[in-house]
Order: sequence, then structure tokens, then C-alpha cells
Amino acid sequence: MKTVSLAVLALLPVFGQSTVARYLEDRKLWVLDGGNVTYAMGVNERQELQHVYWGKRLTRDADLGAVRSTPDWASFDLTTTTTPQEYPGWGAGLYVEPSVKVTFADGNRDLVLHYASHRLLATGLEVALKDIRYNLNVTLTYRMDPETGLLQRQARIANNTDKDIVIESAQAGALYLPRGEGYRLTSLTGRWAGETQIQRTLIRSGEQVLESRRGSSSHQVNPWFAIDRGGKADEDRGDVWFGALGWSGNWRVTVEQTPHQQVRVTGGLNTFDFGYRLSPGQSLETPPLYAGYTDGGFGEASRLFHRYQRAHIMPGGLNVRLRPVLYNSWEATEFAVDEPGQKALAEKAAKIGVERFVMDDGWFGARNSDHAGLGDWTVNRKKFPNGLGGLIRHVNGLGMEFGLWVEPEMVNADSDLYRAHPDWAMHFPNRPRTEARNQMLLNLARDDVKEYLFGFLDKLVSENNIAFLKWDYNRNWSEPGWPETAPADQKKIWVQYVLNLYEVLDRLRAKHPKLEIESCSGGGGRIDLGIMKRVEQVWTSDNTEAYDRLRIQEGFSQAYAARAMMAWVTDVPNMNGRSTPLKYRFLVAMQGSLGIGANLNKWPQEDFALASKLVDYYKGVRRTVQEGKLYRLASPMEGDLTANQYVSEEGKQAVLFAFLRSQQYGRPAPVIYLKGLDANAVYRVRRIDDKLPGNAERLSGAFLMNHGLQLQLKGDYDSTSIAFERE
Ligand code: GLA
Repeated sequence: MKTVSLAVLALLPVFGQSTVARYLEDRKLWVLDGGNVTYAMGVNERQELQHVYWGKRLTRDADLGAVRSTPDWASFDLTTTTTPQEYPGWGAGLYVEPSVKVTFADGNRDLVLHYASHRLLATGLEVALKDIRYNLNVTLTYRMDPETGLLQRQARIANNTDKDIVIESAQAGALYLPRGEGYRLTSLTGRWAGETQIQRTLIRSGEQVLESRRGSSSHQVNPWFAIDRGGKADEDRGDVWFGALGWSGNWRVTVEQTPHQQVRVTGGLNTFDFGYRLSPGQSLETPPLYAGYTDGGFGEASRLFHRYQRAHIMPGGLNVRLRPVLYNSWEATEFAVDEPGQKALAEKAAKIGVERFVMDDGWFGARNSDHAGLGDWTVNRKKFPNGLGGLIRHVNGLGMEFGLWVEPEMVNADSDLYRAHPDWAMHFPNRPRTEARNQMLLNLARDDVKEYLFGFLDKLVSENNIAFLKWDYNRNWSEPGWPETAPADQKKIWVQYVLNLYEVLDRLRAKHPKLEIESCSGGGGRIDLGIMKRVEQVWTSDNTEAYDRLRIQEGFSQAYAARAMMAWVTDVPNMNGRSTPLKYRFLVAMQGSLGIGANLNKWPQEDFALASKLVDYYKGVRRTVQEGKLYRLASPMEGDLTANQYVSEEGKQAVLFAFLRSQQYGRPAPVIYLKGLDANAVYRVRRIDDKLPGNAERLSGAFLMNHGLQLQLKGDYDSTSIAFERE
């Protein structure tokens, strides 16, 4: 029998108690504390749930007074608008972004939510709100991570009237920054092959909308934001509030500065083409909105969020296995896959220390190009006369796991599936069906399509020893019709599609607990905390050109953990016609989950030798990269030098990666100052080359952080990595 110590028992909350939230009954206030963060709200004299504080930790409850609404500003900005409501319904003269907007059966569109009740949860609290007249109930959930202070907010909107209602906006809630001006917004924008570009703009009066109307989270804007006070934060200093939505469909984050110097952020389902009918007794849950705060600049914001993701979002939690080194055949063979060709590549991959061999597109149906075959998930017997078994056994025999590419949500017009079920493709009747990459989306909001997806994937994984699926999704939506449902319900497709996608992934994972999955969408078109709950890794970008990748990865790392960031070494010349040395390409890719996507059939012997050495080095530092704390020391957005450093959680190892884009005028590379080390500790230096001059075998933390390193990076696209082991 397990024994639990009294000390542990004392920490366990009993029913109605919470480790992070408390209720100050005399002032009707709730205070949530976690990490270095306090979040407080209360009930005002009108019974509205009003925001009080979000920022650096407070220490004294007595400092907080009872909550009072903000008065009208003349007859034009009523108290409804000036009062920072946590979850305002659209009604009573509300001019800021509402958290929820509803049309009732009788035509009433006025919604005023008042506090009804609350319940403390072990890691947060639930607050129930109700309209002043109608039985429209909203349950807000606030969960705070005691370690990082990350807050998770979510809302459930329930129709308890006796008639249908239509929800026109369903947001997780509103977040408020301390009143003031001069805040700056950071977002991650881009396009195919150029994702997660860092964009910074001052927040001015009015709204700035970050959103996707494409059916998925999108390459164009990632559902993440950061806001810093005074536009002055840097990697190490400054107040930064940040957040992200956990949703893989149409999303919207509205950042607004009111005329009353109030910056507020509202996040949830996109209101574009949105209308969600709820019958009596039904409810709609919004996606979760995650939000954090730090006074330690963008660097600390990233580290907190990465840690939170690893602990609370990504499958398996903190002690999950390390990401294996992967080989993917796409750039080597494209659609021309067959058993002998893949076996030959697998043998070469095994030689350089690859642990997982992944066969990409082209293995199924009549898939010889992107014109045909999507939807027909049976092995192409011309290419694989013995099924997948022969190849998989060979790969396993070489000591590697086997992974496979699929694109389950799509169909080519030229496929048996489409010939059998043309109605399964997303469409409006009697309207053209727009194709992209010659393919259409299956309407996964339909139950039969959902069952078909689960069925073939389950069969594929049950019948073959498949350790990993690269789950692709190569287009955005068009003609989002759902003719089989009542016209009033057809817009639900935006939501139901995503819920069904999550259900298929959840069921598949539950039935095959060892299966690992990558979310890919022509690169980074579906990277968000909704999908990341269900996949081990994401494909960062189809652009694998190493210098572009440094910039894409710089953006990615603002929001997401390195463990999830799949990065391949590929051949040159690559995009932009650029050629960088193999070592440079390896070191760029080693800053996340390392993969190799090159055509190994063309590699000279010396490339194999270098690759083996570098893969071996990666295996010695990957725990630190994948699970450690990231310090961005020099940004590719700012100069020729890029440097990133990872420090293992317990501080035993630090790894530096440094890249020089282009040396000019014979100038030495800038000095690199390490961070996050123990000043008093001595570190053993592990070099992979001679870029760190001298032959010091040991250096102190103080030296590395204060004196810094003058690396001999020269010419164009030079690079190095150094590992430091604390003695
Ligand atoms: C997408 C992916 C690529 C590759 C191709 C296959 O573009 O991002 O990595 O898998 O599809 O068709």
C-alpha cells in the first residue's frame, strides 16, 4: 500500500478549497496567485464581475478594497463601457468588444450578465453569471498554474430558456492591462514558407484584430500575442503580458485601447461568419485562452510559456521521452517512393544515428503527383507489392522506428473516395468547389466523415508497426457549406469540424497510446495550443533554408517550446538560391527536434562523417534543448550574429549555438555573453570545433556571463556550438 506523508496531505486541497484562488467574502473579491503573478477580480455594486488586477504578485489582501464600477464619461461612454468587465455581454450600451453576443428567440439582443455564484477549484475557480432576465447562463473557468502563474480562461454559454437562441460571439473572456498608454503589441505573422515573423506595433486607440478566417490557425497570423508596457521590454527586462488561444479553427484576438486609456484583449472564436444556434438545454464552450505575465522581458515570457506547455499542454507532461532524431524522405524522393528506394534511404539514415524513419507522401492509392489519390488510404501495390510490412520490418531491423505521412482531412477529385462520396467534400450545393493543390477538404463536421477518418487511421496503425504519423493539411477552406444540416445550423461547421478533428486525434491516441503525431499544414499552418494538446511536435515551416529558418525559429520560440519544433537539415542550394554549409544547417536544426530531410543518396562520404558526429553531439545535448530554458542572446532580426543558449532545468548543462550570417570589414563577431548560469560554478567546456580560441577546458559562470566569449566566426554562414557541463 502506498503511504502518503502528512506534509503532502496538508497540501492537497479539500473540497471547495484551492491552492491558488481565495475568496475575500467581505469585499466579494477573488484573488488568484501563481508564480510571480496575481490576478484579482470582484463583484461590483451592480453585481457585474469586474476586473481588479493582473500583474506582478501582490502580497497583502488588505490593500484591495471593495469593487466599484467606473462612472459614465458623459452620455456617450456609459459605465457599461468604462467599467472593466471580465465577461461583458453585448447590451446596456456596451461599445467595447463584447465577450458574448446573443439573439434570443423573441428578437431581444440585449444581454446583461450578473454574478450568480462561484466555486473554488483545486487550481482556480468557477464563476457563474446569468442574464438579468433570461435564463442564459455563463460559467467562467479560471485556472492558474501555481508554478508559472499562467492563467487559463474558458467560458461555457448555456441556453436554459425554452426556445432556441443564436450566439453571435463566443469569447473566452476579456483581459485587462493596467490602465495607461504606450503599450506595444507583438504578434507572429507570415505566409507559407515564411511563418512566425515577429511584428511589433504600438497600440493606439481603436482595435487591432489578430485572426484567422481560413478554417485553421493559419500561417498568416499565429494565435499568440505579447504586450509590453511602454514598448520598452527587451529579452531580459520589462513588463510583458502574453497569451495564446488553444484553438485550431477560426479564431480571433481583439486588442483594443479604449478612449479611457484601457488596453483590453478579448480572445475566442472568430465572429466572422459565425452564428451558433443553441436549443434549450444546450451549451457552447469557448476555446481556452492562456495568459501570462512577467517583469522579466520577452525572454522570461517565453521560458514561462514553454515550461507551462511542457507541463500542462503537450502530451505526456514533463517527464515524457525525448524527441527522437528523425529522417523524412520527402525532399529526397517526393512522390517517387517505392520499397527498394525507401529501404536504401533507411540504411543510410541508420548510419548517421537516425532513430525514426518517416516515409512521406506518395505511398498510397494512385498518388504519383499531387493530382490524385488523396482519400484512398490503401497501400499502392505497384510501389509496395508486399504492403508496408517489408519496409517497416527493414526499418525496425536497422534499429529505427517507422513513421508515415497522412493527410486525412483531404480528398482529390481524382480518387475512389471522391467518386464514391462526392457529397463528403466541403461544398455549397450548385456552387463550384474551389480546389487548392488539386484537393478539397472533407467535411469533417459530418459524423460519417469523422468515423471514416478514425476507421482508416485506426486500421493503418493497428495493422502496421507505425510509431509516428506526420498529419498534414495542405490547404485552407473554401465554400464551407454543410447542406445536410438545417440552414440555421450550417455555420456550426467552423466549430464542429475542429471538435471532430480533436475527437479523432483523442480516440486514436487513446487506442494507440504509443503513437506519436506531428501537426503539419504545408509547414506551420496549424500550430496552436489546441492541436499541441494532441500532438508531440509540429512542422515549423516547409522552408528549410537554414538562414530563413533562424528567423522563423526566432518567432516560433517566442510562443512555443523547442521540444515541439521540428527542424530538418536539407540539401542546398535551397530557397532564395542560398547555400549554407552542412554544419550550419545541422546547428540551426538542432535548436529544436532534429530531423534530416536531405537526399542521402547524393551525399558524399564526408557529409556522412560530419552528420554522424553532429547527430551524436545532438544526442548529448538534446535534453537541454528540448526541456531546458531558452535564452535568445542575439537575434537574427537585429544583426549578423544569431546566438541562442539553452540551460538544463537543474542547471547542469548549458548549450550555446552561434551563427554568423556575414562578416564585414574583417570585424570580429560580437562578444557573446551567456545567461542563466551559476556565477560561482565552474563549467567544463565541450567544443565541436576550434571557434572558441584558446584551450581553456574549464570556465566559470561569472566569466561566461560577464566577460563573455569572443568566438572566431568568420566569412559567411559560419557557426558553432559549445556545451558547458557544470562540475
Ligand atoms: C506538405 C508538407 C511537406 C510534404 C508535402 C507532401 O507540403 O509540408 O513536408 O509532406 O506536403 O505532399
